[in-house]
Amino acid sequence: MLAVELRVFEVFGLLMNLYETWFCGTRLWRWVTRRQLLPWVLQGSELGEHLLELGAGPGAATEELGRLTARVTSLEYDHAFAAKLGARVNGSNATVIQGDAAALPFADGTFSSAIAILMLHHLRSNELQDRAFAEIWRVLRPSGAFLAFEIQDGWLHRVAHIRSTFVPVAPAPALPRLTAAGFSNVTVDMKRGGFRIRAMR
Ligand SMILES: C[S@@+](CC[C@H](N)C(=O)[O-])C[C@H]1O[C@@H](n2cnc3c(N)ncnc32)[C@H](O)[C@@H]1O
Repeated sequence: MLAVELRVFEVFGLLMNLYETWFCGTRLWRWVTRRQLLPWVLQGSELGEHLLELGAGPGAATEELGRLTARVTSLEYDHAFAAKLGARVNGSNATVIQGDAAALPFADGTFSSAIAILMLHHLRSNELQDRAFAEIWRVLRPSGAFLAFEIQDGWLHRVAHIRSTFVPVAPAPALPRLTAAGFSNVTVDMKRGGFRIRAMR
């Protein structure tokens, strides 16, 4: 009986995971990202002329970010997502690169700002997240802003990531972790459904 229950839980997790992948590509998520999420995450921050987007996925934020800055470089780990988004934004001011946020293929001080929407919890350990923080600090120019949006730990999010990665970034420790990576003026703001991080290089 327990085995059957575990199997049902696993299948549910797989469906939730497919749902997450599918949902991030929907027009609804793109609308929510453009109208609600980005205005809140970007509030009071200067993007400068070259923004790094980390974990772009199907690109819910990419075109809108391209409207807000002169140039966007979107990094995505998944080859299929990267290829599809690259084909879509090709010819615009956005460039898509397949790569890993914990080992950024860019020279020091390349970007005026960086943003990661729902990407950090997909890094497989706290160590990889800290490596990503250090890498983001390295590729930002002095005074460049790093902005992120994340979800908190909870059973629904855990189930949704059963066949995926879910290493939640806890809001309170984010401050010392980003400070250890070299960032200053780190702020974390909570909202129903998630929280935003702002840290300055
Ligand atoms: C939940 S999706 C969010 C996608 C998009 N930011 C959005 O809000 O719709 C997380 C994305 O991060 C990508 N990702 C996971 N690990 C990564 C890594 N190490 N480097 C870059 N991207 C990564 C995943 O492939 C996935 O597309």
